This record gives sequence, structure tokens and C-alpha cells, in this order.
Amino acid sequence: MPAVLTIKEKMLLVLMMLLLPFFVSGASAGTIIGSAHDFRTYMWNDSGEICLPCHTPHNAKNIIAPLWNHEVSTETYIMYDSSQSPTLDADVSSQPDGISKICLSCHDGTVAIENFGNRTDGTIFFFGPMKIGTDLSNDHPISFPYDTSLATTDGELYDPTTKLSGLIGSTGTINDDMLFGGRMECSSCHDVHNTKAVFGTKLLLKDNAGSALCLTCHNK
Ligand code: HEC
Ligand code: HEC
Ligand code: HEC
Ligand code: HEC
Repeated sequence: MPAVLTIKEKMLLVLMMLLLPFFVSGASAGTIIGSAHDFRTYMWNDSGEICLPCHTPHNAKNIIAPLWNHEVSTETYIMYDSSQSPTLDADVSSQPDGISKICLSCHDGTVAIENFGNRTDGTIFFFGPMKIGTDLSNDHPISFPYDTSLATTDGELYDPTTKLSGLIGSTGTINDDMLFGGRMECSSCHDVHNTKAVFGTKLLLKDNAGSALCLTCHNK
């Protein structure tokens, strides 16, 4: 770097200093680093790694999720009750799919957070708002197919195969970007790696200001 800065370089420097607060406060979307799922700084994670509490390159658990490394919950869940809701059209009778069960492995509060790798003797469990629990009847329904036919029957849902998700940097549909094998899951609303989420918005796939996330699927 030259000892003396040109005017252009000085202007660039000033611009960078002006923009810096945005990056530091994380106003932009982008990465797991610094998000609630950046596990490096949590005292229960003695590995110092980010990915390891969830993924491993070797000897993964036998569950339908990418190279999963965390102990999985064995609970039976109470699912969204369609008899409580005369307006529900989806079939919500099945237990959580693997891809949602892995969230519940930490967030149902029955498996210790530090039980990853071979560990099974952890003592730290979620409580308070981070604990979704095993009664999912009071939570948005998950683990059911959301397809064109459901949208037609319901009349107030967008067709997931044609409606664009509008996620940051994507031109894909709801089905492409938000569903897993055509099914609605925890990650239909949440972004576990925070790559699309805006920092400070509960790892949501889309900032829910003005209910933008809800209105992606619901035609209200
Ligand atoms: C809190 C748990 C968690 C952490 C931490 C985590 N992941 Fe994931 N990862 C998941 C889940 C859950 C999925 C399944 C897809 C989904 O839900 O979006 C996944 C899917 C993946 C996939 C396959 C699908 C895709 O998105 O490309 C890759 C690759 C991946 N993770 C890499 C990583 C890497 C690398 C890190 C560390 C920098 C990491 N993950 C950290 C939970 C986690
Ligand atoms: C290895 C355990 C683990 C797994 C697996 C896991 N989480 Fe988390 N999650 C955490 C921890 C730890 C926090 C931070 C809690 C805190 O700060 O009090 C967190 C925080 C969150 C938050 C709140 C974010 C915020 O900004 O306040 C959401 C939402 C969330 N997780 C959703 C999910 C979803 C959805 C999945 C599955 C795709 C998942 N988590 C899988 C451990 C996990
Ligand atoms: C229909 C969308 C949707 C689905 C599906 C969904 N969530 Fe959420 N979740 C949200 C929204 C929106 C918030 C933020 C609520 C707020 O800010 O008050 C949230 C908040 C959370 C929080 C943080 C609670 C807090 O008060 O800080 C956790 C943890 C969480 N969700 C986990 C999960 C898990 C685990 C699943 C699957 C079992 C799931 N979510 C499914 C939309 C969803
Ligand atoms: C990725 C798509 C998607 C997103 C995002 C989403 N939903 Fe849903 N939601 C659905 C589908 C599909 C159903 C099932 C509708 C049915 O069968 O009647 C549903 C069901 C519901 C129901 C129950 C309807 C009933 O008749 O019992 C409510 C209430 C609801 N959603 C509210 C919300 C809210 C509030 C948000 C935002 C926090 C949200 N949804 C985000 C797809 C979504």
C-alpha cells in the first residue's frame, strides 16, 4: 500500500468508515457467523466450531438430515389439531419429518444442547421462549404437503409451484426455496444458517415486517 493516499483512496476510506456501522450491527443478510446459531461462543460448545454441534463429516446419526451430529429426540409430539380448526385443509396427522425433528432435537427441551458427537450426558436444556416443547398443537402446523391441490382447496393460499418466494437473491418459487420435498417444515419459515435472514429477525427466511413472511404463502 502506498504511504500517501490518493484522493480517490481517501474517499473510498471515508465511504468504508461510513458503511462500517451497518456491517458491524449486521443490518445486511448473509451468514451464520454472528447469528444465534454461531455456536463458537456458547460455553456448552467446547469444540469452538460452528458446524459441529449440528453436522459431522463422518459417522453421522441415522436420520434424514444432512450428516447430522446432534442427539435426536425420541419424543412423540402432539401435532396441530385439525379438529380444533374447522378451516384447516391440510393433513397434519403425521409426526415431525426428520428435517424438523432435528430442530426439535435442541428446541423441544428434552435433549441436552451439548449432546453432539458421542456425548449423551449433557445437562443444559432449553427453557423459556427458545423451548418450543413437545406440544406443537399451539404452533404453526408443520410436516405436511403444501401443493397446488391444497392451494386450490383452501382458496386463500398461493400455489407454491408458481408463486415466487421473493427471498433475497432468489428467483425461485415457494416450492423451490421454502419447502422440503414439497412439505412445510420449520425451515419453511426459518433460515438455520442465516444466509437469507436479516440479522436480528429470529433467523427468519424473510423479515416479517408487515407480515411479509406470512403473506408469501397466505393470500389474505
Ligand atoms: C443449528 C444447527 C446447524 C448448524 C450450526 C449448521 N447447520 Fe447446516 N444444516 C442444518 C439443517 C437443519 C439443515 C437442513 C436444511 C435446512 O433446514 O435448511 C442443514 C443443511 C446443510 C447443508 C445441506 C443443504 C444446504 O443448505 O446446502 C449443508 C451443506 C450444511 N448444512 C452445511 C453447514 C455448514 C458448513 C455449517 C457450519 C458453517 C452448518 N451447516 C451449520 C443445521 C445446521
Ligand atoms: C444444536 C442445537 C440446536 C439446533 C439443532 C437448532 N438450534 Fe436453534 N438455537 C440454538 C441455540 C443455542 C440458540 C440461541 C439461544 C439463545 O441465544 O438463547 C438458537 C436460537 C434459535 C432461534 C432464535 C434466534 C434469535 O435470533 O433469537 C430460532 C428461531 C431457532 N434457533 C430456530 C431453529 C430451527 C428452525 C432449527 C432447525 C432448522 C434449529 N433452530 C436447530 C440451538 C439449536
Ligand atoms: C409459519 C412460520 C413458522 C414456522 C413453520 C416455524 N416458525 Fe419459529 N418462528 C416464526 C416466527 C415468525 C417467529 C418470531 C416470533 C416473534 O418474533 O415473536 C418464530 C420464532 C421462533 C423461535 C424464537 C422464539 C423467541 O421467542 O425468541 C424459535 C426457537 C423457533 N421459532 C423455532 C421453531 C421451530 C423449532 C419450528 C419447527 C417445529 C418453527 N419455529 C416453525 C415462524 C415460524
Ligand atoms: C411457506 C408457506 C407458509 C408461510 C410462510 C406461512 N404459512 Fe401459515 N400455513 C401454510 C399452509 C400451507 C397452511 C395450511 C392451510 C390449510 O390447510 O388450511 C398454513 C396454516 C396456517 C394457519 C392455520 C389455518 C387453519 O385453518 O387452521 C394459520 C393461522 C397460519 N398458517 C398463519 C400463518 C402466519 C401468521 C404466518 C406468518 C408468521 C404463516 N402462516 C406463514 C403455509 C405458510
